[in-house]
Amino acid sequence: MSTEPFKNVHLLNQSNQLVGLYTIIRDKNTSRPDFIFYSDRIIRLLVEEGLNHLPVEPLTVRTHTDKPFDGVSFMGKICGVSIIRAGESMEEGLRDCCRSVRIGKILIQRDEETAKPKLFFEKLPEDIAQRYVFLLDPMLATGGSAIMATDVLIKRGVKPERIYFLNLICSKEGIDKYHAAFPDVKIVTGAIDRGLDENRYLIPGLGDFGDRYYCL
Ligand code: URA
Repeated sequence: MSTEPFKNVHLLNQSNQLVGLYTIIRDKNTSRPDFIFYSDRIIRLLVEEGLNHLPVEPLTVRTHTDKPFDGVSFMGKICGVSIIRAGESMEEGLRDCCRSVRIGKILIQRDEETAKPKLFFEKLPEDIAQRYVFLLDPMLATGGSAIMATDVLIKRGVKPERIYFLNLICSKEGIDKYHAAFPDVKIVTGAIDRGLDENRYLIPGLGDFGDRYYCL
């Protein structure tokens, strides 16, 4: 599903099931095991939605009834790139759908001196420029880290239109800022929240995703 007025944003179908999953992970009383379980279910849906947008070519196979079936086959190879740490929570969902998928990592942290995001580490597949890239980060808040990570991918030769940025929750201003920098990257998300608070947490959001997934 495409969203108006956002171009190149694919919002998951807001079914009762999906809203129910979000209700669980947004609830501050949800236990960590449940947070992980239900976040993983949403992540799986995001990956499946991302895969829906990959190009295919016709492929005819013969079935066990010895009749032809006119189907399709995916074109090209994909890889995942997670933004450490919270993005790593999305790797398993990608592996569940794409066996033996290559996964790279990017570490961006706040520079204590400048208070701006700084690239600390990148490890990406050698042939990333020839792949479709699923960029993984669960929350798009200000867009600072996502923009820096996407910049790294583009400097490595990935075409913006081959990048799919998967996240669970976006802010409107995060989408605007990200797409002002990279209009051709497709954002695949399950929720668009109304804004950010003074600490740059999404509202209503769910708090710190990494803390809830890995620590609390
Ligand atoms: N990162 C998070 O984990 N939560 C937010 O609300 C914003 C950024």
